Amino acid sequence: MIITKILSVTIVASSILLGANSLVEQAKHNGLVAIPTDTTELLKLTDPKGTITPERVALGKQLFFDTRLSLDGKISCHTCHLLDAGGVDGIPTSIGHRGTQNPHHINAPTVYNAVFFERQFWDGRSPDLEAQAQGPMQDKAEMAITKEEASKRINAIPAYVSSFKKAYSDDVKVTFETIANTIGIYERTLVTPSRYDDFLNGQEDALTKEEKEGLKLFMETGCTACHVGIALGGKMQPFDLSSDFKYNDVGDFKGDKDGLIKAPTLRNISLTAPYFHNGTVNDLATAVKTMGEVQLLVDISDVDADKIVTFLKTLDGRKPDTKAPVLP
Ligand code: HEC
Ligand code: HEC
Repeated sequence: MIITKILSVTIVASSILLGANSLVEQAKHNGLVAIPTDTTELLKLTDPKGTITPERVALGKQLFFDTRLSLDGKISCHTCHLLDAGGVDGIPTSIGHRGTQNPHHINAPTVYNAVFFERQFWDGRSPDLEAQAQGPMQDKAEMAITKEEASKRINAIPAYVSSFKKAYSDDVKVTFETIANTIGIYERTLVTPSRYDDFLNGQEDALTKEEKEGLKLFMETGCTACHVGIALGGKMQPFDLSSDFKYNDVGDFKGDKDGLIKAPTLRNISLTAPYFHNGTVNDLATAVKTMGEVQLLVDISDVDADKIVTFLKTLDGRKPDTKAPVLP
C-alpha cells in the first residue's frame, strides 16, 4: 500500500517535471548524453587509464595509415576506415588482402566515437580499441600479416623505433601488442562533437525547429531504447524483435552467442551508408523505417522517417585533423 502510494507520487512528480521541462531535459531523461566540452571531463571518458599522450597519438596515426602493416603492403586500417568518409569504406562488405571479401559479408563500422562503445565488433567480441586493433592486422581477409612479421617490419624502420622510444621509454619493446595499443590510443581521440552536442550542452539555437521535432520523434518512437548514451549506440542489443529483417540471409552473421548485435552508433550516420551488419540498405530513411518494423513493431510513415533523418543529420560531427600523416 505504502509502496503503491510512493510509486504513484513519483510517477506524478516525474510526469509533471517532464511536462514542464525542456527538450534538453527530456533528452537527458531518455538517456541521451552530450560529448563534454570540457577537455578534462572528456578525457575521463576517453582515457580512463591515462595512456593518451601527443607523441603516442601522432605515432598511432602513422601506424593507422601505414600499409606496411599488411602482408602485401597494400592495405592499412585507413583503407577500410576512411577518415574523410565517416570512418568507413562505403561499400556493403569490406574488401581486404588481395581482393578478399569479408567471408561473412560484414560491413565496416565507423572508427569515429568507437571509444565510447561498451564492446567492439558487431558481435562485441573485443573489449576495447587496443585489443580490437590486433584483429584486422592478422585477419586473412583484411591485412593478413603475422604478429612476428608486423613487429619485424616496424623494428626495421629506425625512425619508427625512435618514435616509440620517445612515446614510451628508451627500453620499450616494439612488439605487435605495443603497435596495436598505440593504434588504439590514436583511435581514442577520434571523437566528433556536433550541433546536437552544442544543443544538449545548453546552446538552445544550435538546432532548428525541424531538427528539434525530429529529436522529439526519435525519442517518442522508442529509438532511445537502444540508441542511447554518448554514442547513441555501442551496447549489445537484441535484433529482429518484432519481425524478421528482410536481408538476414545475406551473409551468415547471427550476432553473439545469445544472438545479440551491437547497436551501431548513430553519430555521423548520414556519412556511413550502406547500413546494417551486412550493408544491405543504402538509404537512411529506409534504415529508419526498417528499425520501426523489426525492432519496435511500428509503421513509421515516410514523413516521420524524414523527420527522424533531419534530426540524425545533426549528429554529423566536427572531425579531428584527417590529413594523411607523413610516414617514416
Ligand atoms: C579490409 C577492411 C578493413 C581493414 C583493413 C580494417 N578494418 Fe576495421 N573493421 C572492418 C570490418 C568489416 C569490421 C567489422 C568486423 C566485425 O564486426 O566482425 C571492422 C571493425 C572495426 C572496429 C570496431 C568498430 C565497432 O563498431 O565495433 C574498429 C575499432 C576497427 N575496425 C578498427 C580498425 C583498425 C585499427 C584497423 C587497422 C589495424 C582496421 N580496423 C582495419 C574492416 C576493416
Ligand atoms: C531494440 C533495440 C533497438 C531499437 C529500439 C532501435 N534500434 Fe536501431 N539498431 C539496433 C541494432 C542492434 C542495430 C544493428 C542491426 C544489424 O545491423 O544487424 C541497429 C541499426 C540501426 C541503424 C543502422 C546503423 C548502421 O550503421 O548500419 C540505424 C540507422 C538505426 N538503427 C536507427 C534506429 C532508429 C531511427 C530507431 C527508432 C525508430 C532505432 N534504430 C531503434 C538496435 C535498435
